[in-house]
Amino acid sequence: MQKPEKPQNGDPRSRPNKAVFIITFGCQMNEADSEDIAASFRRRGYMLTEDIKKADAVVVNTCTVRQRAEDKAISQIGRLRKWKLAKPEGKLFVVGCAAQKLGGKNLKGRFPFVDEVVGAKAIESFEDALVTQLGPTPETETAHQNLFRSPQTAYVTIMRGCSLKCSYCIVPAVRGPAVFLSPAAVLKDAADKIAAGAKEIVLLGQTVNSYKHGQTTFSELLKEVLALPGLERLRFMSPHPLYFEDDFTALLGRERKLARYIHLPVQSGSDRLLKLMRRGYTRSQYLALLSRLRAAAPGLAVSTDFIVGYPGETEEDFQDTLSMVKEGRFTMAYCFKYSPRSDRPEMAATLSEPGIEARLEKLLEAVKINSRVILNERIGKIEEVLFETETYGRASGNFAVRVKAGGEPGKVARVLATGAEKNSLMGKVL
Ligand code: SAH
Ligand code: SF4
Ligand code: F3S
Repeated sequence: MQKPEKPQNGDPRSRPNKAVFIITFGCQMNEADSEDIAASFRRRGYMLTEDIKKADAVVVNTCTVRQRAEDKAISQIGRLRKWKLAKPEGKLFVVGCAAQKLGGKNLKGRFPFVDEVVGAKAIESFEDALVTQLGPTPETETAHQNLFRSPQTAYVTIMRGCSLKCSYCIVPAVRGPAVFLSPAAVLKDAADKIAAGAKEIVLLGQTVNSYKHGQTTFSELLKEVLALPGLERLRFMSPHPLYFEDDFTALLGRERKLARYIHLPVQSGSDRLLKLMRRGYTRSQYLALLSRLRAAAPGLAVSTDFIVGYPGETEEDFQDTLSMVKEGRFTMAYCFKYSPRSDRPEMAATLSEPGIEARLEKLLEAVKINSRVILNERIGKIEEVLFETETYGRASGNFAVRVKAGGEPGKVARVLATGAEKNSLMGKVL
């Protein structure tokens, strides 16, 4: 984490630092937005705190992708009543996707102690909300920096929103249609984050590989980011199966800094459900894409997302999803219970809760067994590991790797995998 800079005399920041507490729900997009929000506070002399009692401002960045995510955010806001009672001059901001869905009126009606609500579509104007609540920014702007994690990995948003219409998904409604950032903006953000210490950049977007800005395609953007000095590894998420072009496959084959790992959500193994979900591909098209990618980049690790209990899911549909785990050779999979996000009767869940739960259990078990098999297959092979400490790092394929000694933090080294334990590979630096 970045240390707060020394305030100068006469600078409004020479008063004792105030503190902001940021709670983030949801996906990496939200985490990236929270970093931008943290930077906005930082420009006002605030530091980040992990102790809510010390906070002068609290931000809850919400998610609504599934009902549970929304419920969690709501109960978090409810719990903040106590903080606000203890610190009436403190400012409470509710932002993000659930804020967009529920709206300021609704939220402030339910929680009158909330000071500002900023929905996901307006997140770039969070600064305006800050001006309303805290006054203008002092004129001592510093570069946008990676505030949250160890400086090793930094997120760079390359697109906002989503223009697809997957039947189950609320993201397009709360984030709006796809908007691509300019290559210049992306490169500046990435370069700033590398200058602040990042070794690994993760490009973010809901259909990240659909990137197109003027003449710049996703693959061309990747090439430009890969050329930034100081970068050790480039990742991206989440791509969509519809948008991998041949120039990407070629790039993956030859660029060692481009991670040999792709998180490629498939959602279902059943053609019937894929169609109802409006995913735009069939099971065999998805598998053919995996084969193409793996032919270009042998050893490519792929993980995925599955939804169980989609309306009308039959036992046969579910068996198709189960068999997909092995056939896709996924290193890992997030498995979600279907959560209705619209009131339309045809989108209501049709399986009973115990019914969905039973399928989820089976799927999780299949994923666990398969992950083990895939991890064991890496034993005896050489992994390119970006070290975080002398003994711990992540392989290009995103496996956690432990060694006894010899890793150089921030640098990539070749490691011979000698064993596997839990979800990690054990190895020896070559
Ligand atoms: N843009 C990404 C996914 C974003 S949402 C993509 O299309 O690949 C992250 C994951 O949440 C999805 O992949 C899906 O598996 C899950 N998800 C989205 N809506 C859901 C819902 N209504 N119920 C259950 N899971 C859902
Ligand atoms: Fe939602 Fe992803 Fe489909 Fe977009 S592509 S609608 S974000 S699941
Ligand atoms: Fe949630 Fe919004 Fe991300 S709904 S998953 S935080 S885009």
